Amino acid sequence: MTTSPQSSGRVFSGAQPSGNMHLGNYLGAFKNWARLQDSYEALYCVVDMHAITVWQDPVELQKQTREAAAAYMASGVDPSRSILYNQSKVAGHAELAWIFNCIARLGWLNRMTQFKDKAGKNREKASVGLYIYPNLMAADILLYKATHVPVGQDQKQHLELTRDIAQKFNSDYSAEVFPMTEPVIMGEGARVMSLRDGNKKMSKSDPSDMSRINLNDNTDTLAAKIRKARTDAEPMPSDASGLEGRAEAANLVGIYAALTDQSRDSVCAEHEGQGFAEFKKSLTDVVTAKLAPITEEMARLQKEPDYIDSVLADGAERASALAEPVLAEVKRAVGYL
Ligand code: TYM
Repeated sequence: MTTSPQSSGRVFSGAQPSGNMHLGNYLGAFKNWARLQDSYEALYCVVDMHAITVWQDPVELQKQTREAAAAYMASGVDPSRSILYNQSKVAGHAELAWIFNCIARLGWLNRMTQFKDKAGKNREKASVGLYIYPNLMAADILLYKATHVPVGQDQKQHLELTRDIAQKFNSDYSAEVFPMTEPVIMGEGARVMSLRDGNKKMSKSDPSDMSRINLNDNTDTLAAKIRKARTDAEPMPSDASGLEGRAEAANLVGIYAALTDQSRDSVCAEHEGQGFAEFKKSLTDVVTAKLAPITEEMARLQKEPDYIDSVLADGAERASALAEPVLAEVKRAVGYL
């Protein structure tokens, strides 16, 4: 679903500090976060509570939390306009998630494809946290009565669940507490695929580092990854319909389109007839031009951990102030004394 920005409403989004931030996170989320802060009040959260639904080394988690905050800022999130903080600093997320654990139905959670993917065959060994992960996500959003949530395509099902939870809460307690949140899934970058397999999404947890372009990759590394990205022997078609059944080629065209803010059709028209070895050179130029300043700014910010910590602390204070009245309203509706 695509939603065009309006001047009222509140935006919430987040990313897990569970590994390297990558081009998929940038194109599916961060790039749009920076845009939306011009039209909306926005909260951007480093979801460290979601991250521990699978094992995280504590020292690494701290490092990755700062790295995620640096990635948000380097991608254009301005902490003086938007609220940037980490989830575990605002206790309301956990409090509301508990209430939602009592609202959401087992059947709803059993349908979540991300749990099935992440738990794999070893379901019995998955943490309970991983199973109820979507309830915490609904709590993140609804704790602020957020109206718009900019995410990549992979989060769509979780946002549908958020609406189901909001609706059931409002109906069970005969109270219009929560809004129906709109997903904001924008443009050609909403689903960036692995460079090794065009049918798998680009992901932090893919064991192959060659499958993704990390925001902290240097220019040589990212050029090598694009050069080695899987493609096929066919040339560039005249329009995007010629990319059907060519998942890897379609992905590279999609990345180019998203980075240059044009459609796949116009990228095809521009490069019609070109072989992909040649197209990859143009793609490398485009990726480098966009990512090099972000990589550089992330590295600069990460040399200032005290500054990052102060941004997160200030954000947590501002987020808590917004959460407090909503949580009070929820507790009243539920009947807590
Ligand atoms: P996470 O950490 O997996 O990803 C962060 C954001 O990046 C997007 N994304 C992608 N977009 C396009 N192509 C890809 N290959 C790709 N990979 C990731 C994701 O869609 C997401 O927008 N559950 C969420 C975090 C979360 C959240 C929230 C998001 C927790 N609470 C509340 C929105 C609102 C997640 O794991 O994102």
